[in-house]
Amino acid sequence: MHTMYFLSRFLRNPVKVASVVPSSKHLANAMLKDVNLQPGDSVLEYGPGTGSFTQQIVNSVRHSAFRGGRLRYLGIERDPGFREVVMGRFPDLDFHLGDVLDQRRLIEEYRLPRPRLIISGLPFVSIPQDITLDILHTARDLLVPGGFFRAFSYLHAWPTPGAFRLRKWMDEIFDSFELNGPIALNVPPAFVLSGRA
Ligand SMILES: C[S@@+](CC[C@H](N)C(=O)[O-])C[C@H]1O[C@@H](n2cnc3c(N)ncnc32)[C@H](O)[C@@H]1O
Repeated sequence: MHTMYFLSRFLRNPVKVASVVPSSKHLANAMLKDVNLQPGDSVLEYGPGTGSFTQQIVNSVRHSAFRGGRLRYLGIERDPGFREVVMGRFPDLDFHLGDVLDQRRLIEEYRLPRPRLIISGLPFVSIPQDITLDILHTARDLLVPGGFFRAFSYLHAWPTPGAFRLRKWMDEIFDSFELNGPIALNVPPAFVLSGRA
């Protein structure tokens, strides 16, 4: 059901949605690998779409020391249809309808403590360079020390200038940078990019 809905949003806005189907649980797993959220941590998600990564965040919290605690989370989604879907799936979480460019103001407005994880579903390759840089620098400033920034990059886009720039900028902006993948079982296969503050 999420797949058909995702496809319909893609057909309306291919540049902003950038993928025909939601990310798989294989990619979602890899995006959360080694993060080990603890009680008191908070999570900021860019572009949750229909909630593939959100579900994995909720699962990892359910099976950890977090158990019983309340997950502090904010998702920022610019598509009203996707926001409706995730609000229905995760009624206990906050989803703001708006643009990631406003992340600094939004985490104050929602009183979200500085995140330990910022997880991105954004199609960085199709986002203008100055905006991508602004988002990455702000994410670096917002994270707690040792916090994680996770993004993905599709295998087919790997050699393009946009994907190369994203890797280079993440390497320069974060204290450490790692690649994981490709996650071959995702459609399309994708690498996970991990920056650490
Ligand atoms: C490739 S989809 C990924 C969705 C989901 N995270 C997944 O992996 O299945 C990109 C998502 O980012 C959202 N998006 C794109 N640009 C955005 C922006 N500037 N601010 C907030 N959301 C944005 C789109 O509406 C869409 O939901």
